[in-house]
Amino acid sequence: MTDRPTVIAIFGVTGDLARRKLIPSLYSNFIKGRLPERLRIVGVGRRDWTDATLIDHSHQSLRNYASAIYDERAWGRFRERLSYSKVNLPRPETYRNLRDDLEALDGGASNRLYYLSIAPEFYADVIRNLGALGMARENGGWRRIVIEKPFGYNMETAQSLNRVAHSVFDESQVYRIDHYLGKETAQNILFMRFANTIFEPIWNRSHISNVQVTVAETVDVGTRAGYYDGSGVMRDMVQNHMLQLLSLIAMEPPSAFDAVALRNEKVKVLQAARAIKLEDTVRAQYDGYRRAEGVAPDSGTPTFAALKLFIDNWRWKDIPFYLRSGKAMRQKTTQVNIQFKRPPNSIFELTERDDYARNVLSICIQPDEGMHLTIKAKIPDEQIAKSVDMELHYKNAFIADNLPDAYERLILDAINGDAQLFIRSDEIESAWKIVDPVIEGWQCDPGAPPMQRYSPGSWGPAAAAELLERDEHVWRISCLHED
Ligand code: BG6
Repeated sequence: MTDRPTVIAIFGVTGDLARRKLIPSLYSNFIKGRLPERLRIVGVGRRDWTDATLIDHSHQSLRNYASAIYDERAWGRFRERLSYSKVNLPRPETYRNLRDDLEALDGGASNRLYYLSIAPEFYADVIRNLGALGMARENGGWRRIVIEKPFGYNMETAQSLNRVAHSVFDESQVYRIDHYLGKETAQNILFMRFANTIFEPIWNRSHISNVQVTVAETVDVGTRAGYYDGSGVMRDMVQNHMLQLLSLIAMEPPSAFDAVALRNEKVKVLQAARAIKLEDTVRAQYDGYRRAEGVAPDSGTPTFAALKLFIDNWRWKDIPFYLRSGKAMRQKTTQVNIQFKRPPNSIFELTERDDYARNVLSICIQPDEGMHLTIKAKIPDEQIAKSVDMELHYKNAFIADNLPDAYERLILDAINGDAQLFIRSDEIESAWKIVDPVIEGWQCDPGAPPMQRYSPGSWGPAAAAELLERDEHVWRISCLHED
């Protein structure tokens, strides 16, 4: 751990993410003794807050979102680290105060992490304003910037934001967040694949029939229409979280467990994605979406998408990857199901429902984190084979009662300069290159599949099931024991 003072400046400290995730995650790392000794946390915002307001606010945040680990004495030590600095994000002249405040804390030679937890339209302004005052220059200590999602609205805006970022910071100083990568189970995909010998030999088109990624949420648009109605599921979930999961599943073995090697392999997967045909896509809106507050009454924003994607490389050629995600669905679950090929010749009778149930490796990202391996077994006292699950549940296998929040790992990694779980500029752009044509096609191509509807509390529209039925597959939901 470094002796040098380390300052974390959280832009947007008055917002929701800071309250629910960032402050609790910093506190959790703090009580685990993982943060630098001489740490200061500077909340940056537009409001007329004082240090005392931030301290009160943080106290509330810990009471609400970190009650299980809240400790009065630890809080006493944590609160001493907190201070507030007011900045009007687009106005360069207001950054002088911030610069002076930070320099008063650290003499200018500290390590500094700027965390942008603000509306994306201000990212470029903040970066430029930090640059104009020399606040990105490393003069002894390091300077890093964490940028939340969404990173861009499409390829063009992502490229332009990358250009702005690179005009002030070197790529090695830029940490683009995708909080799915901080989830323990997402991190475990690499461990599972590359710390074992049994999976890799069968992890290819010779043995795998198809791969399915489901990210279903029960929440609807709620109070987020202002953001969501302008984005939709492709930008909100597919471009980032789902393509990240896919690249972890599909990547080649990296030569080292480090940011360069890992991200090189992930980006190759995205670059090998074949252009998605519009006929291989389904878009849908849940009933009632257009009546939600803030949603345009004639909104064409999809809250559900399903698609079929191919990775054109030696390992995966012609193996379908099916992705689906939606809001207001039946259950909250994120899972990856790797469905293996059928035995070449079956000498056993199967139960009726097992007809399609081949071996499946299910990676249960959340909730009830774990892995299931569906295998066929003989039903005792009968001569019939049935699918049964071998199950690993984190809650049984590991002592940890609660898995750490993704942000806990991500903030710590950013402080420690480990960019493995952050998205590189070329990854972001490659992901936009995959989703942009689908979004554009849905909007402009008269031949695009029409918007479907689905009932809240369902698994999405019938068209999503049909997308797989055409290939004689079905969506698996193994982690929930529903199928
Ligand atoms: C965010 C999306 O990135 O991820 C939200 O903007 C979504 O719409 C959320 O609800 C899901 O995250 P998690 O961790 O609850 O699966």
